[in-house]
Amino acid sequence: MGDNHVSTPLSSKERGEGVRLLDGKAMALQIKDEIANEVRSLTDAGHRAPHLAAVIVGEDGASQTYVANKEKSSHEVGFTSSVYRMAESTSERQLLETIEFLNNDPDIDGFIVQLPLPKHIDEQKVINAISPDKDVDGFTPVNVGRMVLGEECFVPATPMGICTLLKRFGIETAGKHCVVLGRSNIVGTPVANLLSRKGFDCTVTLCHSRTSNLKELTLQADIVVVAIGKPEFLTADMVKPGAVVIDVGIHRVADASKKNGYRVIGDVKHDEVDAKCSWVTPVPGGVGPLTIVSLLQNTLQAYHRQTRN
Ligand code: GUN
Repeated sequence: MGDNHVSTPLSSKERGEGVRLLDGKAMALQIKDEIANEVRSLTDAGHRAPHLAAVIVGEDGASQTYVANKEKSSHEVGFTSSVYRMAESTSERQLLETIEFLNNDPDIDGFIVQLPLPKHIDEQKVINAISPDKDVDGFTPVNVGRMVLGEECFVPATPMGICTLLKRFGIETAGKHCVVLGRSNIVGTPVANLLSRKGFDCTVTLCHSRTSNLKELTLQADIVVVAIGKPEFLTADMVKPGAVVIDVGIHRVADASKKNGYRVIGDVKHDEVDAKCSWVTPVPGGVGPLTIVSLLQNTLQAYHRQTRN
């Protein structure tokens, strides 16, 4: 660069200073350690280990990866883990019979039915068949109702993971405007509910595909939770400087430079958004690891309730 080149100094936000990562990977390791210690105390005292089961129907690649990760994490903390793999052609009745079996097996503390299910199976009917006491995903109407009423319940894993990140990193939430993008039953709707409640005390705006003034709303947000399922949807022009941005998206995109041929991106365009944030979750390594840990925490809770250990 020549001596006569005078460049405009970058602001601290433009340089990315002050941006802090909500490192879910490190936090998940720490919480898994806490769970593993508790499980060790239980088994050392002669009790059986907590048992998490998963049912997966069909060959969906992403679902196979999620279930494999859940199984691996279960083993890491000393849980017993079982996976019921069922063919794509499994009938609704066969699946309901498997659920009935799991509901009645006293050695299983909690189980999940991996979604999405094949088109010929009624997803809500299947969820409704899960015993609320073993519903560690928190998807059954009883647990959803309890959550909305603020009663003890199983909270869905991804919203619970987001709450854990905010709490453990000491992010100030009271009185803050939180804009949630996406109203799914699994993430957007429950996280909007949880963050508006006592303890978090956010003022929440829940946005969806029919929201007309999205950018106007996100620009007012102190906290943005992006769970919209569109790769790199949230761009820098939509974010207020200093905002906290939580990225729930997970998308695989082809990348020939990677050994496995792909890389993972989120719902946030991180190369331009991160520099504007005070805190941001990376993808991968942000919300994802906390989601699995939350499922383990729910299973431990189910175990305590059922065994009274
Ligand atoms: N599919 C995508 N996310 C989830 C989840 O949290 N639980 C289940 N059961 N299926 C999913």
